[in-house]
Amino acid sequence: MIHNPNREERDSRNVLIKTFGCQMNKLDSELVFGSLIKEGYTLVTDEESADIILFNTCSVRQKAEDKVYSHLGKLRKYKEERPGMVIGVMGCMAQNEGEKILKRMPHVNLICGTRMFSRLPELLDEVNGSKRHILAIDDDATVDFDRSVAQRPNRFHAFVSIMRGCDNYCSYCIVPYVRGREFSRPREDIVNEVKGLADDGCKEVTLLGQNVNSYGKGLGGNGHFSKLLRQLDRIVGIERIRFVTSHPKDMSQDILEAVGELPTVCENLHMPAQSGSDRVLERMRRRYTSTHYRGLIEMAKTLVPDITIAGDFIVGFSGETDEDFLDTENLMRDVRYQNCFIFKYSPRTGTDAEKFVDDVEEETKKRRNHRLLELQEEISTEENSKRIGKSLEVLVEGTSKTDNQKLTGRTRQNHIVVFDFPESGYPVFPRTNGQAGDPSLYIGKLVNVTIEDATDVTLYGSMDSG
Ligand code: SAH
Ligand code: SF4
Ligand code: F3S
Repeated sequence: MIHNPNREERDSRNVLIKTFGCQMNKLDSELVFGSLIKEGYTLVTDEESADIILFNTCSVRQKAEDKVYSHLGKLRKYKEERPGMVIGVMGCMAQNEGEKILKRMPHVNLICGTRMFSRLPELLDEVNGSKRHILAIDDDATVDFDRSVAQRPNRFHAFVSIMRGCDNYCSYCIVPYVRGREFSRPREDIVNEVKGLADDGCKEVTLLGQNVNSYGKGLGGNGHFSKLLRQLDRIVGIERIRFVTSHPKDMSQDILEAVGELPTVCENLHMPAQSGSDRVLERMRRRYTSTHYRGLIEMAKTLVPDITIAGDFIVGFSGETDEDFLDTENLMRDVRYQNCFIFKYSPRTGTDAEKFVDDVEEETKKRRNHRLLELQEEISTEENSKRIGKSLEVLVEGTSKTDNQKLTGRTRQNHIVVFDFPESGYPVFPRTNGQAGDPSLYIGKLVNVTIEDATDVTLYGSMDSG
């Protein structure tokens, strides 16, 4: 029987959730936060005051899993001192490793797979006070997209899941195995959610999916993603729409036209190439060539003036030669990405690439990784410097981490900007009692900032005062 503590007992339960991995995990953590708060739990940010510690985990590379094991290992002593506490692992690694986690880390009490997180409140009730270990993994469970109880850290920004899972089975990738089949959420549900967010003061949404360009596949007809963008663009109150991730094999002209035409859709694409070599792309089973990719970039730059592009690359994939790597360097140089995530290939158990030999030596992977980082840094610095002297629209996110007298936010093109705000106050928020403007008044607002300096990751400037 499920042990069901009463509300009072629950009220004393403090929960800490540590999130690893991609934006999908961030969103899932927010959904879990929301449902736990509704049940009377309190969220805390430090281990000392937590009665329940949940790790929302990633399996995409071995290093991601090692990191979680190392964190879990550190909690062993903690658990000995406070045997009543609950340590849970949820997300992709819970799905991937399952019982193995319990074997290696017996102090873990709860494993909750990627399609079971909406049952967490119930599972915590079950585990609470009992000495049992609970393993909740179901490959066939469906995920409820409902966010009526989500807790978003920023009132003015929200992640919105438009699809789940992935059907692409790129040969190196574990995501389809841990996240399940691709499933698109009905368009009306997404639109209603975004309307609700707008009513709640949200200004910017980031649509999430492993391959948003194939949104609506299986529903018949074409152009589902661009139709979704067009419908969302009409929602009053939403100023900016972003989306990740774009897959080159499903990117199309109608999507790029929508990005170019719709005022709310930001001029930024995250469209990973993974490699510039056709031989490697084929072994990765990406289903496009570098020529096709270059064509898409050209089309994007034509249809969306001032677009910025972010990418991902894997270096040292099985069989990658110096010549293949040169193709990647050339692609990076030609596209002139705004920023790139560069990963050393990490073989994953159960994927198709596991049967290839991981034959690129660690030293070579490191060298190639370093080379791409260096090249990207050079490109980013040059591209960012082109913004100096320009006035750009910034959505203010908060005060800068390194200087609370400065504000930080993002441009439509997704540059991070750190900037001064006028001491004499901004016209919209005049100074009160002769004090300098309160930075918090600007948070969540769109302001214009003139750029004065740039590094590879940040633009610096001052807010325009008129
Ligand atoms: N759906 C997204 C990517 C999700 S995974 C897409 O297809 O673009 C995020 C990134 O992790 C991938 O783009 C890839 O660059 C990297 N990645 C995935 N599996 C990997 C592996 N086995 N080793 C190294 N990097 C990997
Ligand atoms: Fe992984 Fe490929 Fe799916 Fe992206 S599209 S999640 S890389 S299988
Ligand atoms: Fe994301 Fe990592 Fe899972 S990249 S989908 S959290 S394996």
